[in-house]
Amino acid sequence: MKKEQILEWLKTDDQEELEKLWRQSDKIRRDNVGEEVHLRGLIEVSNFCARDCGYCGIRVSNQDVCRYRMTADEIMGCVQMAVNFGYGTVVLQAGEDYGISREWLCDIITHITRETNLAITLSLGERDESELIAWRRAGADRYLLRFETSNRALYDRIHPPLPGRFSDRFQILRNLREIGYEVGSGIMVGIPGQSFDDLANDILLFKEYDIDMIGIGPYIPHPGTPLGMSSEEHLCLSGEQVPGTELMTCKVVALTRILCPLINIPSTTALATINRVEGRVHGLSRGANIVMPNLTPKKYRELYEIYPAKASCDENADESNSRIKNSICAMGRVIGVGRGDSANKKTKAV
Ligand code: 5AD
Repeated sequence: MKKEQILEWLKTDDQEELEKLWRQSDKIRRDNVGEEVHLRGLIEVSNFCARDCGYCGIRVSNQDVCRYRMTADEIMGCVQMAVNFGYGTVVLQAGEDYGISREWLCDIITHITRETNLAITLSLGERDESELIAWRRAGADRYLLRFETSNRALYDRIHPPLPGRFSDRFQILRNLREIGYEVGSGIMVGIPGQSFDDLANDILLFKEYDIDMIGIGPYIPHPGTPLGMSSEEHLCLSGEQVPGTELMTCKVVALTRILCPLINIPSTTALATINRVEGRVHGLSRGANIVMPNLTPKKYRELYEIYPAKASCDENADESNSRIKNSICAMGRVIGVGRGDSANKKTKAV
């Protein structure tokens, strides 16, 4: 698909045309990755963060956040729940927390690989190459790092680097692949200052970089952040600004599936947050094939507030697990068995 056509889809409001897009992306999903919806148990290990991203509620300068870091025992408790629920993967996610040391995490990864058959995904920000290598050697399988936007000027405006460091997430994504990780990335839809042209470029880059998993969520303003407090002044000229709506997010999910048929695409928590009733199901019926139920203990969940009113914040792991499984089955889809490795990565390995 050419950029002009992507732009046309992004800008259309024609219901009948959009029904065609949903049907096409759903068919491509079915033909390439099947009816299985793989569940990845999300463990929000720590909300400490060294970075000061303009949109994120757990940015270092947000003084209102009560910070926590889970103990190894607490993490292993969540891992056990993932096993009990029949999940194939655990995702260890945190802010860019340098209190998570290389050795501490190596021990936890080793522990998980010894005691379970779970695939291990890490989502810990822009860590040093030596750490990424050590964690891969210890047994981690996948790494998630969203590039958030391919517009460099917009990226720089909302991602102040650490002192003396230059942030190049595309370089890190290439390194991750070299190190042997299955690589996940993604974007936010509707960042103030993100134009339709930027968004079309993002979608084309998913394909160009041959990424194995793409997470796509709407930008949700957080009042405790500079971008959340003063969105208007950052917006693009009228008509060019991408809205952070459910519809726009679903269009990006659908177009991504059409361009990258074999990859894994989660129906994200952010999408479920802006439409609590149907967001997750809409994602799954328009191209997505993954859900990441939250396993984080309830007392920590509400502290991992990257954006406000996050879906499933008011539930425990049991409740999230049954609600998500029920809604997947009600759609006539099947709960995935096994690790749910990326069909895209497998194709490359052959
Ligand atoms: N709205 C939506 N998504 C957000 N993220 C962080 N802050 C927000 C926000 N305000 C997303 C980023 C990050 C992922 C873990 O959460 O895309 O990569």
